[in-house]
Amino acid sequence: MIFVGDPRPRAARRRADLLQCFDQFLADGRFVLGPGVTSFEQAFSDYTGIRNCIGVANGTDAIELALSSLGIGAGDRVATAANAGGYASTSLAAVGAVPLYIDVEPDTCCLSIGAVEHCLASRPRALIVTHLYGRIAPEISAIAELCRRHNVFLIEDCAQAHGSRMAGHHAGSFGDASSFSFYPTKNLGGLGDGGAICTNDDAVAERCRQLRQYGWLSKYEVQRPMGRNSRLDELQARFLELFLADLDEENQKRMLLASRYHEQITHPGLFLPPAPSDSSSHVYHLFVVQVRQKREHLQQHLKNHGILSDIHYPIPDHLQGVHWAKAEVRLPVTEDLAASVLSLPCYPDLESADQDQVIEAVNSWSQ
Ligand SMILES: Cc1ncc(COP(=O)(O)O)c(C=O)c1O
Repeated sequence: MIFVGDPRPRAARRRADLLQCFDQFLADGRFVLGPGVTSFEQAFSDYTGIRNCIGVANGTDAIELALSSLGIGAGDRVATAANAGGYASTSLAAVGAVPLYIDVEPDTCCLSIGAVEHCLASRPRALIVTHLYGRIAPEISAIAELCRRHNVFLIEDCAQAHGSRMAGHHAGSFGDASSFSFYPTKNLGGLGDGGAICTNDDAVAERCRQLRQYGWLSKYEVQRPMGRNSRLDELQARFLELFLADLDEENQKRMLLASRYHEQITHPGLFLPPAPSDSSSHVYHLFVVQVRQKREHLQQHLKNHGILSDIHYPIPDHLQGVHWAKAEVRLPVTEDLAASVLSLPCYPDLESADQDQVIEAVNSWSQ
């Protein structure tokens, strides 16, 4: 079977280094918030050029704690897209904030400055922009500027965009705070859950450090409400620092896979994602095509050829079956995308021969 993403070859390649990491972890004997977390936070901060990095338990917590650190809480309105897997909505529900869903662009699947500008009339306190599939939202600089002018906090969800850069600026460096997930299949992924918040604002960073550990000012002294236990695991932090050294090279491999798809997929029933104007601003966490007719038929056809595909994401946030959903809202582009997007295999260790097989199977599909 050819998988959509597969973190196992990376772990196998680095097995000896991982075991050495584990030995060092045992030798150091600091199992929670030890030197591994501090060292990874510094390394990731150096890598992104964002002054502070705070390791947390996962990418969903990272959004939640970023919101709390900015003072977003019960009843506050927060604008966000509804096509990014529900993580932002889950975090908003956790702090009691109210989502204001806005529609995305049909080609990039990201929020536009026009849509953000339009929603300012509803007076959001914050905006969450997801750099979806690995692409920095093309208008992020203008969006950040607009938010600054209107006193709206900007949180960038970079769970799928580690290492992408626009005009040299890393994803996560445009807003007030950014969130990252280190789930194993991510461009930078551990061997378990993990996440981080990055921010250039030292006061926000300080609050995040308190919030990830029960809201403690010092041990057993709770100063900040909305705190909880969301520490980045010490062992995962060590693994992540090891994998960080490979991130740029692995992202290059993803970009190469994407350019081969762009060159060689010729089936007229598939709409390919537009190539970004700044090539380093899309790190292809996922290679997502749009299939406007018979998507499930193509999925089955690929499966018959030993190829898995996936849908990111089949149900928009506003149509989920939980209390924070908003079934009355209409988001035509988001709803169309949910019915047409399809993720093809794309990960650094995907062999060329396997990619050839995917291309051949796609092109031979009789719609
Ligand atoms: C866009 C996006 N945001 C947030 C998350 C949440 O990350 P985690 O699974 O680490 O909680 C994910 C990953 O699953 C994601 O893809």
